[in-house]
Amino acid sequence: MGLIKNLFQKIDDGILVISIDRPDKLNALNQATLAELREVIQENYDNDEVSGIIITGSGDKAFAAGADIKEFTELSEVNGRKFAENGQEVMTLIEDCPKPVIAVVNGYALGGGCELALACHMRIATQSARFGMPEVTLGLIPAYGGTQRLSRLIGKGLAYEMMMTGEMISAEKAMDYGLINYLVEDKNKGLEKATALLQRIAQNAPLAISMLINCVNTAFVHDEDGYLMEANSFANCCKSKDFKEGTHAFLEKRKPKFTGD
Ligand code: COA
Repeated sequence: MGLIKNLFQKIDDGILVISIDRPDKLNALNQATLAELREVIQENYDNDEVSGIIITGSGDKAFAAGADIKEFTELSEVNGRKFAENGQEVMTLIEDCPKPVIAVVNGYALGGGCELALACHMRIATQSARFGMPEVTLGLIPAYGGTQRLSRLIGKGLAYEMMMTGEMISAEKAMDYGLINYLVEDKNKGLEKATALLQRIAQNAPLAISMLINCVNTAFVHDEDGYLMEANSFANCCKSKDFKEGTHAFLEKRKPKFTGD
């Protein structure tokens, strides 16, 4: 294993708990964190000591508040497409993991953070969880598979509302929308619930569970055209003036002035 700096991981009773560990940046998913996530998930595909995986955020404020906006200033049309394809790959690696993966969402799950939760097989949220797709406020669209997975999970109407307004929804609303499986009081209760679920699943046949994951993923066929269109559209956003304005406005802590260019 390479040097893992942005994730905290521990294995307890066969369950791997991965915490995104950049609490002072609200666990924003920079490229290094994404690479580490890829490595850790990949190496646990075949780890016999692990029967299930929990992904959560360090601290009390955030699961992950999105991709790291500081890194957006380097995005052009060309590397914007690479950025999207790389994120899509990591999310699909999680979705295709042969072991059950549960997100315990403890606070903000925004943009890429929401997409990470969507890529997990199940989601448990705490009372303080807030889900949102604020990309449009930056002149962008979700690009880690969110346009596809959110629409499939909660339906087009609600997905459009979340992605077009960019507004956050509460954990209660996420429950009503069918975005989460359980709503619990706090992170400890979330970890307990996820552990209990994974232990229950671990009593069943591992091969059957991995086959189930393949079958359910196939029911929601990986629509290659949808993902390709998402990456292309993200790349197009990356060459717009609105994207530069949106990103700079966030970093300068001011409201953006969009012109449609
Ligand atoms: N990328 C990079 N840094 C981020 C970040 C992100 N997505 N989200 C939060 N941070 C950083 C902030 O810049 C700040 O860093 P600083 O202390 O060095 O200034 C720190 O995390 C704390 O965030 P702050 O904005 O001060 O917290 P808050 O409680 O006032 O607001 C949010 C919380 C989630 C509403 C706000 O941070 C936010 O809107 N984040 C961006 C969300 C987003 O657009 N994500 C999608 C990206 S595609």
